[in-house]
Amino acid sequence: MSGPRVIVALDFADAAAALAFASRVAPAQCRLKVGVELFTAAGPDVVANLVSRGFDVFLDLKYHDIPTTVARACAQAASLGVWMMNVHTLGGKKMLQAARESIDRLAHRPLLIGVTLLTSHGEGDVAELGFEHGAELQVERLAGLAQVSGMDGVVCSPQEAAALRRRFGKDFLLVTPGVRPPGSDTDDQQRIRTPAEAVTDGADYLVIGRPITRAPNPMAVLESINREIQVH
Ligand code: C5P
Repeated sequence: MSGPRVIVALDFADAAAALAFASRVAPAQCRLKVGVELFTAAGPDVVANLVSRGFDVFLDLKYHDIPTTVARACAQAASLGVWMMNVHTLGGKKMLQAARESIDRLAHRPLLIGVTLLTSHGEGDVAELGFEHGAELQVERLAGLAQVSGMDGVVCSPQEAAALRRRFGKDFLLVTPGVRPPGSDTDDQQRIRTPAEAVTDGADYLVIGRPITRAPNPMAVLESINREIQVH
């Protein structure tokens, strides 16, 4: 694996704020994630703009729909030149396979990642959803479904990374949000770890938003995270 492990979540309300942030960082320091808030506000243009600045962009729209609709949406997303994109594993095997096939037909093939459970979910939320065996088993099950369906990896909590790395091998990408530098606010994330712990446990990429984007000096936080994980 080469290049930065940190993917900064650009959870901004408009393109101007996202692009202002992007102007202050370099593609060698971080990759960038466009999620549902920014994409709903600013659309594909902001994605294309970030790609044209040389950033690896993770389009985090967590597609979850019937197989044909998801396959077609995946092809549209890939045409924007994104580096990574995701679908929700709860969409099931047929949907995941349709997404894989649609990407495989293209000249530019982004990494295709499956979302397991949201990192904001605690055990209570997981039980309420009817998953009776707890978050850990549910995530392992969904990650297994992602792997047999041809996903390049999964989004998971860093707390699950070690178990998933052991079970699914070194080539299955683990992308972990729910990462908080020591001493920072947990916000609405529940299943969290520090950047160094996440990498030690086997995470390939760390998605980090608010601890960087809302910091008085975002670049200093980014640099210190990069230093912290370099040795791991
Ligand atoms: O600000 P924070 O570091 O909590 O941002 C985490 C980002 O990761 C958010 O953009 C959120 O949408 C995303 N995410 C997550 N849990 C997942 C998938 C994505 O928190 N399972």
